Amino acid sequence: MTHIAEQIQPNPLREGLSTRAVPQPCSVVIFGATGDLTHRKLVPALYNLAADGELAPAVSVVCVARRDKTDEGFRKELEEATRKFSRQNVRDEIWKTFGQGIFYHRTEFHDLNGYKTLADRLAQLDKERGTRGNRLFYLAVAPDQFDDILTNLKQVGLNRAAEGSWARVIVEKPFGTDLDSARELNRVVNNSFSEQQTYRIDHFLGKETAQNILVLRFANATFEPLWNTRYIDHVQITAGETLGVEGRAGYYDKSGALRDMVQNHLLQLLCLISMEAPTDLSADSVRDEKVKVVRSLRRIVSRAVIENVVRGQYSSGAINGKPVPGYREEQGVNPQSVTETYVALRMHIDDWRWADVPVYVRVGKRLPKSGTEISVHFKKAPPVLFNKESVTLDQNVLVVRIQPDEGISLRMQAKIPGTSLRIEPVKMDFHYGTSFGKPSPEAYERLLLDAMSGDATLFARRDEVEEAWSFIDPIEQEWQNQKDKALYFYSAGSWGPDEADELLARDGRAWRRL
Ligand code: BG6
Repeated sequence: MTHIAEQIQPNPLREGLSTRAVPQPCSVVIFGATGDLTHRKLVPALYNLAADGELAPAVSVVCVARRDKTDEGFRKELEEATRKFSRQNVRDEIWKTFGQGIFYHRTEFHDLNGYKTLADRLAQLDKERGTRGNRLFYLAVAPDQFDDILTNLKQVGLNRAAEGSWARVIVEKPFGTDLDSARELNRVVNNSFSEQQTYRIDHFLGKETAQNILVLRFANATFEPLWNTRYIDHVQITAGETLGVEGRAGYYDKSGALRDMVQNHLLQLLCLISMEAPTDLSADSVRDEKVKVVRSLRRIVSRAVIENVVRGQYSSGAINGKPVPGYREEQGVNPQSVTETYVALRMHIDDWRWADVPVYVRVGKRLPKSGTEISVHFKKAPPVLFNKESVTLDQNVLVVRIQPDEGISLRMQAKIPGTSLRIEPVKMDFHYGTSFGKPSPEAYERLLLDAMSGDATLFARRDEVEEAWSFIDPIEQEWQNQKDKALYFYSAGSWGPDEADELLARDGRAWRRL
């Protein structure tokens, strides 16, 4: 497929879902700046925006953390990290200007004085660099530190902006560990910042292909009429990773795959693929439709959990021919841990459009391949002509590849050339790489820019997050009630426990091979 439209009008994939307001000059204030996220994602994303000319030149990055460091020393540290993790090569002349806008501010998070001096520093930057009193606070810290930081920001008045300026806060996941804790966090955030000022990040929503789902569905006339229970047999969503727990045992062992990936990323993808068309592209119209999907999810409670959800943990095995340890042998993991690193679910959206269409979702670490995709499996053609005798004729499958090799493919039946009538499935394939010839920005680039422009469409709203937890909680509770915690083991490098295959086999279906 080629991109004909681009010659005629601006490409909506490059311009964004709606025309974004111009990102404004501001200070991006990162709490927890010495952590991994700042080094791997946030600063490389800001650098790439600067390199692509998307960032207002005045944008300043104020890194707040507890360790003793100087501006100069921290700039060097971040430069090294950016050279390592940036998607584009770092150009010296661009880094020089960008780096001059990075500052380090040391404080304990509970120390009010540190916030007074932060306020002075930000006011100074407004004067020297023209950040115009706009502040984007980024909480890249564990949730138990939110309260201190947000209360102190409020104490020194940094939660409010002067007339004509703005103050916003970006909150990183995990946003709670269950419904109660999410409500409590929402209360804590809301004490200092209003919902309109709050941007809850789910980096999957910033991925190019995730944004393209709505374009695919609502900018084309072909798919939408078929997008319902009459024509769709079932939907699958898979997020596989070859990686293991990667030094994050402290967090992961308390969380597990259901909370870490399903409550947020996977449910967001499910919403995008199944929501109704919003009335317009404003943040709230889009999010109103998404929250309806989560509300319509059939709750999986008590016995139904064991029938519809499979919980797995990887044992030792091999990835790409290299032996890897089991989860319980990973550094920092409790050797008796019963945390799941894999989960597969059979779900239903109880609304008019999706009645009787199962949605199968699976996510796991240490699987044979890394990849995230959504596949929509259409019902078979009526069994009257070509598939009269052969019951094996394939279904049409529309696959949205979120990553890697971002793109969309449609599988259909074709006649094999020759004098006899033989039919085989073929694929119509669109690859971002070849059609657009331009690498997609990283999710964090898009999301940071949106937050600077005040566009919350790609951020999770309070009610979405809470609804998602109300779906997750009964599953976690039932697992706790099970004697062996309903845990099945799978070898690292396999596609998860056999029970996950059986989950689909019972319905006469199978997981799509990635
Ligand atoms: C994070 C999870 O939110 O997403 C990780 O905490 C997971 O466990 C990661 O590895 C996957 O994100 P991506 O963008 O690498 O697919």
